[in-house]
Amino acid sequence: MEARYRELTPGSARAFSEARRWLPGGSSRQAGYWHPYPLTFVRGEACYLWDLDGRRYIDLLGNYTALVHGHAYPPIVAAARARVDTGSCWAGNNEEQVRLARLLVKRVDSVAQVRFTNSGTEAANLALMIARRWTGRDKVLMARGGYHGSLMEFETGFGGATGPLTGIAQYGDLGAFQKVLSEEGNSIAAVFIEPVMGAGGVIPGDAPFVEGVRQAAHSAGALFVLDEVLTLRLAPGGRQAQLGVRPDLTLFGKMIGGGFPVGAVGGDQGLLELFNPDQPRIFHTGTFNANPVTMAAGIASVEALTADRIDQMDALAEKLKAGLRQAAIKAGLALSINHIGSIMNLFFSESSGTAYGQRDDGELMARFHLAALNHGLFLAPRGLIALSTVMTESIIDEVIERATDALLDIASTGPRAD
Ligand SMILES: Cc1ncc(COP(=O)(O)O)c(C=O)c1O
Repeated sequence: MEARYRELTPGSARAFSEARRWLPGGSSRQAGYWHPYPLTFVRGEACYLWDLDGRRYIDLLGNYTALVHGHAYPPIVAAARARVDTGSCWAGNNEEQVRLARLLVKRVDSVAQVRFTNSGTEAANLALMIARRWTGRDKVLMARGGYHGSLMEFETGFGGATGPLTGIAQYGDLGAFQKVLSEEGNSIAAVFIEPVMGAGGVIPGDAPFVEGVRQAAHSAGALFVLDEVLTLRLAPGGRQAQLGVRPDLTLFGKMIGGGFPVGAVGGDQGLLELFNPDQPRIFHTGTFNANPVTMAAGIASVEALTADRIDQMDALAEKLKAGLRQAAIKAGLALSINHIGSIMNLFFSESSGTAYGQRDDGELMARFHLAALNHGLFLAPRGLIALSTVMTESIIDEVIERATDALLDIASTGPRAD
């Protein structure tokens, strides 16, 4: 697999050795790296990416779910270009941030106001600041292997550990959350969970769990923060609308920026009022917060994500899942798929797994990732797939065909063949 990958992508190999001279490990992003070297892409259009060697890939990842309408989606390009043409940023207000905030408030029931940042990580940081100021407490409780960005407190829990400011409990186990909250609740400022664990392997939480955690957080006097950075794409009102859960704060990111850097915290006016610049109780500023280009692109992205288009993506995901299962049977490989809506995670095992901690199928997954690249398919090294609204049935047919070839490749070479 690796030999063939090297043979097909010499341009990316050269580009990566140059990158290693100037960037630590040749990269600025853990999730954009894989062994032996990541591809250098030079162009994206619709659901396709092209690398330095001129090879075309069907993009099944969409920058980890952010590009819900694929690359260079014409309405987003037009909106961003119009904004760039007449000035891209300034230190004052812009109309676009008001429009995007209104759009999010109209869609997501629990949100009355929105504060914008430049990433989901910053949004999580902001929510933590709100919770700490609101409760006068320090600690955060999250799921083991939950992901809320690259802030130290959350990295600790993502790595599966507790820390001086981080408590963890097993996702899906309401009793475990209740136990920590009853024992240590008076030091916990907020409970953060994802309604579907994304980086953890696309593990959906059900309504009794998510609502139960919300109630347990409230009983302990902590805020309940729902991280919808990845899940807003699942329904116009986010996953919280499907579950019927009303968080105190919601984290946004990824698709609300239309492919530009973004994050946001939404909640009721009482909590968000802490930022009121007339009487700030939390100091928060940022040169590029609510930057007009991102806001313009974000409006186009959110407006284009209608309920109908979500349904179409979800139907394509069902088709893909069925096709991949058939392909795995043909190749004689055990494959299980965690799936919800337009996102899924592959596991080379009999029963569904998790993508955090040590994976039993790590070696096979890595080999499939390279085999898929060799056959012109781009997915996350850990097996995450996120479809986009610009995909069609015939593109999914092509994906299944290529994936079948990739699965047959790994089945025929056997473990550690290269
Ligand atoms: C659920 C969730 N929260 C937060 C983040 C962090 O967002 P960003 O990468 O924009 O900092 C991510 C990113 O993958 C995420 O999936």
